[in-house]
Amino acid sequence: MDRITIRGGNRLKGRLPISGAKNAALTLLPCSLLTAERLTLNNLPRLADADSFGHLLNELGVSTTMSRGNGETIGRQLTMSAGAIASTVAPYDIVRKMRASILVLGPLVARAGEATVSLPGGCAIGNRPIDLHLKALEALGAEIELAAGYVKAIAPSGGLRGGRISFPVVSVGATENALMAAVLAQGETVMENAAREPEIVDLARCLVAMGAEIDGIGTDRLVVQGKTSLHGAEYEVMPDRIEAGSYACAAAITGGEIDLVGARADDMEAIFQGLRTAGVEIAPFDGGIRVTADGKLRPLTLSTAPFPAFPTDMQAQFMAMLALADGTSVLTETIFENRYMHVPELTRMGADIQVHGRTAIVKGVDRIVGADVMATDLRASMSLVLAGLAADGETRVHRVYHLDRGYERLEEKLSAVGADIERESDG
Ligand code: EPZ
Repeated sequence: MDRITIRGGNRLKGRLPISGAKNAALTLLPCSLLTAERLTLNNLPRLADADSFGHLLNELGVSTTMSRGNGETIGRQLTMSAGAIASTVAPYDIVRKMRASILVLGPLVARAGEATVSLPGGCAIGNRPIDLHLKALEALGAEIELAAGYVKAIAPSGGLRGGRISFPVVSVGATENALMAAVLAQGETVMENAAREPEIVDLARCLVAMGAEIDGIGTDRLVVQGKTSLHGAEYEVMPDRIEAGSYACAAAITGGEIDLVGARADDMEAIFQGLRTAGVEIAPFDGGIRVTADGKLRPLTLSTAPFPAFPTDMQAQFMAMLALADGTSVLTETIFENRYMHVPELTRMGADIQVHGRTAIVKGVDRIVGADVMATDLRASMSLVLAGLAADGETRVHRVYHLDRGYERLEEKLSAVGADIERESDG
């Protein structure tokens, strides 16, 4: 197990390359199950979760060939081929390490007629149910069985049939599973109150490149005309808007200036609106976005909500930044029930944060002090790194395997823009 040690106080300055998006990659990878031909993904990030997903696909019979990228982006190139599905079971020992494994459910039942996936269970930020995924597949004719910690979906003998899916709650994963099933269902599928996150748009665009017919891409109403089969394609994973937003917070909290190379501004409007209100300058340029901060940050009041509103995946990072703002901020987490695991650790560094249910009151302080802190989940871990960049003295973030799931070469990227940061074994 490793830890990351940061000596705070440096103003960060320089160019920082943004990797392919984790949450796009994790829904593009299972698209390989939807065709017997080759699907090649470019700009695949070097992340633990992407590698775990590749191992899961191998278990299901997908052959994978990883190579260095095509040079146009910093990511890797992965070619996948599911000529024949060797297994329709996603086992517990894989799913328990990566809940996104549930995203093989829709494509497997669509392509192979059935799928058995270990129930993903909860995680640090909430109990993470999958009822909306299952209801969506039932609307396409699938029969659902739950037994011994597994969920099994079985298509009708003639395959899935198009249907009408109306989501009572916006769900990224359920929208992704439903979309990957609908593209091979017979007839038309209408999805209402679908998630509109940029990662969903990336998925839809990849499916269209594979021959799918989808209307309403980017809106909350998707209409799919199912096909009998899809063909292979080559597709580039979108840049990671949450990684970019996290490093924008690094510039903000250190009073620095970072060029987010490869970031896509259209995906980040709500994040940038928050940063601008806090007094940070955001300047898109050809090929990226420059983020500049030069003094005390102003406090904010914001709530997380589905896209295009402020993303829940940026709440912890903003909280670290606002811990040093000139005034009191109010953050409300409306998506997950337990996404304040970073608060006790930030408080130990001297932040003044009070949590009341879903709302956190962040009173800005003049300084925070480095300490030994424990990472608990992916975005909480990044929040602690950000705090360490601005803290007096040394911060040691333990259990950084959480970070490796979503931030490619974090210490390399941050030290390249002037952070005093190193990774060490934690014994
Ligand atoms: C995706 O998770 C992301 N993960 C999360 O990013 C992100 O926080 C989340 O979407 C919201 O944007 C990936 O894309 C791999 P949801 P997902 O289904 O799909 C409830 C990160 O840090 N719900 O949109 O699991 C659920 O409990 C991760 O990168 C049901 O009730 O999120 C939550 O309250 C963390 N029933 C809300 O909906 C269901 O069947 C939104 O969850 C499904 C979800």
